[in-house]
Amino acid sequence: MNEVWLPPPPALGLAQGDVHVWQIGLERSPTELAKLRGYLNEAEQVRAARYYFERDRNRFTVGRAILRKILGLYLDEDPAGLTFSYGPQGKPALAGKTGLEFNLSNSHQAALLAVTTSNPVGVDIEYQKDNISMSDLVKRFFAPVEIETFNNLPAAQQPEAFFNAWTRKEAYLKACGGGISIGLDRVVVTFVPGEAARIVTIDGSAREAGRWSVAALNPYPDYRAALALESPRFDLKCWQWPD
Ligand SMILES: CC(C)(COP(=O)(O)OP(=O)(O)OC[C@H]1O[C@@H](n2cnc3c(N)ncnc32)[C@H](O)[C@@H]1OP(=O)(O)O)[C@@H](O)C(=O)NCCC(=O)NCCS
Repeated sequence: MNEVWLPPPPALGLAQGDVHVWQIGLERSPTELAKLRGYLNEAEQVRAARYYFERDRNRFTVGRAILRKILGLYLDEDPAGLTFSYGPQGKPALAGKTGLEFNLSNSHQAALLAVTTSNPVGVDIEYQKDNISMSDLVKRFFAPVEIETFNNLPAAQQPEAFFNAWTRKEAYLKACGGGISIGLDRVVVTFVPGEAARIVTIDGSAREAGRWSVAALNPYPDYRAALALESPRFDLKCWQWPD
């Protein structure tokens, strides 16, 4: 899918079955950063202060503040007043019954935020760094059938294939509220470059996989991303948060 990242319309309508994905640049001017910091609650400011590197602290601050601003737009509420609850493995959700589900992912200088109405959603963005040992990660985390497919690919296709697989698996696990500790090998996905994104099996079941959708996303250059939704179909719109 080659989605277009459009400026958002003045009124954001989110109907049942719609998924909106927002692309967000995390590098902001000092003036904007200072303003964004004001949207964080005390716990978020404490968390920001714990980052060792200023760069990471700033990226967390920008991501969390813009998450608040975007959710505030859908809910027509003050972004600074929103309250989050956290799942057993830390997945943030809006407290109370808001009718909105969301998931955020950050990597390097970019973040993606997926927003939908009622179904669990997960998103993962990865900067395509070339200093990771893909074959080690594949051997350690992927399912046997995926390891075989990956190893049979021409070397030139392996980096794209790796990030296709990683983001699709991670998006699924994030939709479920877990991390890679749940087991990336429990979900088998398509990942050969050019092949449509699809979950093939979940815990060996094609039927269970059929209850889910996964989509490949093409955000900023040098990033790969994917979205997973617990629903067999959805309508996707991609918005660019202003830089
Ligand atoms: C949180 C986790 C699910 C994903 O982490 P990640 O890929 O590093 O980071 P992402 O940016 O995609 O996701 C983090 C965001 O997801 C949300 N999140 C946190 N815990 C979550 C969970 N259990 N489930 C879903 N979403 C979660 C938060 O909004 C978080 O943003 P914040 O840190 O600014 O609060 C983590 O447990 C994990 O599995 N990490 C693996 C990281 C890794 O090895 N990457 C190698 C890539 S090649």
